[in-house]
Amino acid sequence: MTTAAVVTAAGSGTRLGADVPKALVHIEGRALVAWAVSRVLQIADAVVVTAPASHLDAFREAVDGAARVVAGGATRQESVAAGLTALALDDDDVVLIHDAARAFQDLSVMAATVRAVEAGADGAVPVVPVTDTLVAAPAADGGLGAPLDRATLRAVQTPQTFRGRVALDAHRSTGVDATDDASLARELGYRIVAVDGHEWGFKVTRPSDLILAAAIAPQVEAS
Ligand code: CTP
Ligand code: MG
Repeated sequence: MTTAAVVTAAGSGTRLGADVPKALVHIEGRALVAWAVSRVLQIADAVVVTAPASHLDAFREAVDGAARVVAGGATRQESVAAGLTALALDDDDVVLIHDAARAFQDLSVMAATVRAVEAGADGAVPVVPVTDTLVAAPAADGGLGAPLDRATLRAVQTPQTFRGRVALDAHRSTGVDATDDASLARELGYRIVAVDGHEWGFKVTRPSDLILAAAIAPQVEAS
């Protein structure tokens, strides 16, 4: 049994708007994907990175032999499937599926997801409380939507961690419409548990997130 990981990095980063794919953007002198790989390697024995097909060489250079780099797909789900295929998992392996965009996730959160699966869960996902006041989307006439009770809601982070057979089954199943790996597995009836996430597990999405990333990177490295 091994612990392996897919680091999803095949997105273009439209909302960030950089002139390179998001995972190649440098934070404190290092590509986001390199941060993610070096951190995940403290938990997992083998890492596959999914990269945009147009930038495979640049990603290989960025990870400098620490991980295998394969082409991702048009959607995150397709990229995860490509990464899982490249890992050639055994049913009993444990696999972390982690967004390069969440490169700074706390290691104890990653470890907690692995422990939960080793303790018998089919999958484990970090979640954090929602801090904004939430309402439903505005009506067509612009009217304010009804308030949502944020106490009943959580935001989902990565790594989403699974027993190998669960990840493979979820990604082999067609006709299940879900935005993330855990929802996919949960739809199939697998027992997915929540663990506490961390503020460092935020997703680099918009330009101002780069400022936050640069500010926390030194703390993360020292942790
Ligand atoms: N991802 C991927 N393959 C895709 C799309 C996304 O591997 N076809 C990865 C991204 O590289 C990222 C993670 O999934 O690490 C989460 O996606 P997101 O933050 O939405 O990144 P992008 O899709 O690159 O950004 P945007 O939606 O702003 O274009
Ligand atoms: Mg996206």
